Amino acid sequence: MQFLTILPFITIALGAATTTFPSATGTLTYSAVQTISAGGTYDGKMKRIDRGVSCTGQAEGGDKDAVFILQEGATLKNVIIGPNQIEGVHCKGSCTIQNVWWDDVCEDALTIKQTSGTSIINGGGARNADDKIIQHNGAGKVVIKDFYAENFGKLYRSCGNCSTQYKRAVEISGVVAKTGKVLAGANENFGDTVTIKSACLKDVKKVCVRFDGNDNGDEPSEISNGPDGKVCIYDTSVITSNC
Ligand SMILES: *[C@@H]1O[C@H](CO)[C@@H](O)[C@H](O)[C@H]1NC(C)=O
Repeated sequence: MQFLTILPFITIALGAATTTFPSATGTLTYSAVQTISAGGTYDGKMKRIDRGVSCTGQAEGGDKDAVFILQEGATLKNVIIGPNQIEGVHCKGSCTIQNVWWDDVCEDALTIKQTSGTSIINGGGARNADDKIIQHNGAGKVVIKDFYAENFGKLYRSCGNCSTQYKRAVEISGVVAKTGKVLAGANENFGDTVTIKSACLKDVKKVCVRFDGNDNGDEPSEISNGPDGKVCIYDTSVITSNC
């Protein structure tokens, strides 16, 4: 978050991502996944929370390997997800993820499994993701606002090879991303949309990549990248690099 000080005692948030990983106020290790019930809120008060197990690399885990599972309408906030875990956070319904930081992403940081609706990721950040940070396997829309990503494969990917495929949408604004391969990847053949309103990128190779998705588990092939007004919806002027 950048701040503009007008008078010594008035500070206005300019609404961009905070690019400093917060330090933890304490640590917590859960031996089982924590489920946040429908409509509920879990406030971690900036503790570092993990599962006390080492990351197993890119071998896909299941819900039981997550740190948190969020049911429909649940909120997770003010948490640092530590390195000793496998599956990060899973949203089974539309969820709100506010000021959540992944210190060292394992398989992926956040998996969205909602069947409809909009999930919101507001603030927070993730680093050291060999592959994806936000994996959108369910349907509906994901809003990523004021998020920070550092050293990653893809910030967002609409599932390229899930057995049930949907038309998915993502909206990105106020994001800062450094040292990564792809900001967002989507499936052209399933009607996905990636709308970028603003992002500051440093050493990120591709902004928006269009893939030919499938439902048979194969790795999808890349079609092209860059704005096309249909899948990758943005003007290159909204991508800055002064971050
Ligand atoms: C393809 O499937 C594998 C196995 O489930 C998964 O790890 C990978 O992330 C998928 N690729 C895409 C682009 O969704």
